[in-house]
Amino acid sequence: MKLVKVRNPEEMSAFAARRIIEKVSSSSMLSLGLATGGTPVGTYEFLIDDYKKKQTTYRNVFTYNLDEYVGLESSHPNSYHYFMYNHLFNYIDIPSENVNIPNGVASNLKQEAISYEAKIDKIRGVDLQLLGIGENGHIGFNEPGTALNMLTHVLALSESTRQVNARYFNNYDEVPNHAITMGISTILKSKEIILLASGESKAEAVYRMFTEKVGSNCPATVLRNHSNVVVVVDEKAVSKL
Ligand code: GLP
Repeated sequence: MKLVKVRNPEEMSAFAARRIIEKVSSSSMLSLGLATGGTPVGTYEFLIDDYKKKQTTYRNVFTYNLDEYVGLESSHPNSYHYFMYNHLFNYIDIPSENVNIPNGVASNLKQEAISYEAKIDKIRGVDLQLLGIGENGHIGFNEPGTALNMLTHVLALSESTRQVNARYFNNYDEVPNHAITMGISTILKSKEIILLASGESKAEAVYRMFTEKVGSNCPATVLRNHSNVVVVVDEKAVSKL
């Protein structure tokens, strides 16, 4: 795992955006694994800005999002589907048929998880996966305790994650109890991974990711078993390392 230290969230976002743009511009076809949450927003802003200036095209880019809340329609402002259109897809030329996000309102969620995994297998894992990290060390929605060999699955969110994510909702009770997420094994199929972390609230998780024994107590530790991972952290997020 390569550690890149930067000064602030803006440098972190610029680093990730530069790598994405480099891959998009040099590939005839590219699969991108994308993340939601506050962390990647700055990266998406850089991509939109670059698109406006240089017309970098996303017509041959296929995206695969990490996760989605169960029970939220794609039109719900807190769904990750809505998030992705609102923060990126509405502003670039990616065809909507190239966009893949787990369907959190599928009538058969187990089948949805199997189909989503099959899509990722079809492309033999995404070319470049962008990741954030939860304060408890989760990646995607793989909470502590999740088996490391899990593929895309439905899970119950931990109380702590619901509490942390409640800031995006009107109140805690509105935060869904369940989510559908790529599993740890799914994420490890990616050919290249960039994990971003900024701010003091991530310092403990970053410390644990690098120092704790690889295992499900801190799911992000498994990235140490992958041969092509770059962790980009700002000064606050790396302060405990
Ligand atoms: C959420 C998402 C993760 C994200 C993490 C951190 O629960 N499922 O994909 O990386 O928590 O979110 P944020 O970037 O808002 O801190």
